[in-house]
Amino acid sequence: PDAIFCDRANSRGWDWTDPLEMAEIYAARTPFAETVFEATPLLACAQKGADEQRITSPSTPADHVGTVRLAAPEDAAAAIAAAEPWDASPQDRAATLRRAADLYEANYGRIFALLAREAGKTMPDCIGELREAVDFLRYYAGQIGTMTSPARGRFVCISPWNFPLAIFTGQIAAALAAGNAVLAKPAEQTPLIAQLAVSLLHEAGVPRTALQLLPGGGEIGAALTADPRVDGVCFTGSTATAMRIHRSMAETGNPTAPLIAETGGLNAMIVDSTALPEQATRDIIASAFQSAGQRCSALRCLYVQEDVADKLIEMLKGAMDALHVGAPWETRTDVGPIIDEAARAKIADYIEAARAEGRVLHQLETPGQGTYVAPAMIRVDSIAQMREEIFGPVLNIATFSAEALDRVIDDINATGYGLTFGLHTRIDDRVQEIVDRIEAGNLYVNRNQIGAVVGSQPFGGEGLSGTGPKAGGPLYMHKFTTGTQGFAAR
Ligand code: NAD
Ligand code: ALA
Repeated sequence: PDAIFCDRANSRGWDWTDPLEMAEIYAARTPFAETVFEATPLLACAQKGADEQRITSPSTPADHVGTVRLAAPEDAAAAIAAAEPWDASPQDRAATLRRAADLYEANYGRIFALLAREAGKTMPDCIGELREAVDFLRYYAGQIGTMTSPARGRFVCISPWNFPLAIFTGQIAAALAAGNAVLAKPAEQTPLIAQLAVSLLHEAGVPRTALQLLPGGGEIGAALTADPRVDGVCFTGSTATAMRIHRSMAETGNPTAPLIAETGGLNAMIVDSTALPEQATRDIIASAFQSAGQRCSALRCLYVQEDVADKLIEMLKGAMDALHVGAPWETRTDVGPIIDEAARAKIADYIEAARAEGRVLHQLETPGQGTYVAPAMIRVDSIAQMREEIFGPVLNIATFSAEALDRVIDDINATGYGLTFGLHTRIDDRVQEIVDRIEAGNLYVNRNQIGAVVGSQPFGGEGLSGTGPKAGGPLYMHKFTTGTQGFAAR
């Protein structure tokens, strides 16, 4: 078989703990520390929209990261008309996506600067995000050899701000790998990173008719998904928005086109009294607070067996105290800012409501400037008390008795979400019993529950958390084809 399809390896990434690599990263990103970036619709037709918006950094409101010229709803219709499926040979498509992956890696300084300034990403998160984006490009390039059915035609890809490079790129890469024309609508908070990504894909050789960028908010996304000429929609974001898109496709869009939706979660972890407390503490802290809790996969509700709860809560308080909340540029920062003021206020309101009821067990100090929320630990009776996903650094904790384990599993499943789940135990039979019963897409045992790796841990949920197929897995790209010819497994 052709090496261009079979050769698969994850990106090496960068080692932030190695002082030499750290110095290289600093040197590479420093030239972009004050650059004012620009984003504009990248269309294969004349552009109508002219409104501009200023993008500032969530950690430093005085930092003018760039200016975006927004697409107008009329641009959506014109771009759909101008879109042309990518008719290059499978080998050419794979080679082009691999070239794009190399270009992403070569531009790491600019990308890290933008991820930190526009999206508030800490350095370990910048590294993980670029690595995942590169992995998606190479993985789907490698999957092209398994494709037997034709592309669908025109795919709309709509992405969230919390993985503004990785998820944005992953959706586009899969749609392009299958040979579709892509209309990409990034999150309104992170158009500058999207612009850079699309520019690099064009530079690698993806035709401008096959990949267009429409920066803007929900109204542009709505205009795209309501258009009957669209042959499929790939969406990652909140469950509420996915439902809106589903309705609009059924009512005014193309009702037979597939909707691939990856959405929110109310993710739980169970820690029983046999778990190793130090290991559980480390994994709980990472799962709840890395990326300031702004991961769909993040731990929202921890269930601790009551006989070890006091001890574990004390250890968690100690571990929380060691976290540094601050600017993403700082080497020592563990928890960066919240993406914007509206998101910050929603999380802060949730914590204050719990505080008024005497349920806040611990919270760190919030830095003065920027949209920060200090990590908080809150007592709840059960996951049923949490009616919606609070997208920030908030760890809810409930306790359970040995006899109540069945009810805990039922309560977790009853939320209707099913994205990630974590389990810490040293009882092998219990692992199998719980894993068999929990309804979630990604289950993690005796480790943290974030950071799925492309190609090794396909990622995606069930129920209210998504439609599948899982991103970064062997079935994903085929959903972007007609599926009429089946596919060749490898
Ligand atoms: P969001 O739903 O507010 O926005 C996501 C995207 O949808 C944005 O680009 C937005 O402009 C667009 N949009 C908004 N209204 C629209 C409409 N009516 N029609 C079409 N497009 C529209 O989500 P967010 O706040 O950007 O992201 C956070 C959410 O994403 C969380 O719920 C998180 O759990 C989820 N998420 C899920 C995954 C996953 O893989 N399951 C990954 C990352 C984030
Ligand atoms: N894929 C991301 C994770 O696993 C969302 O954390």
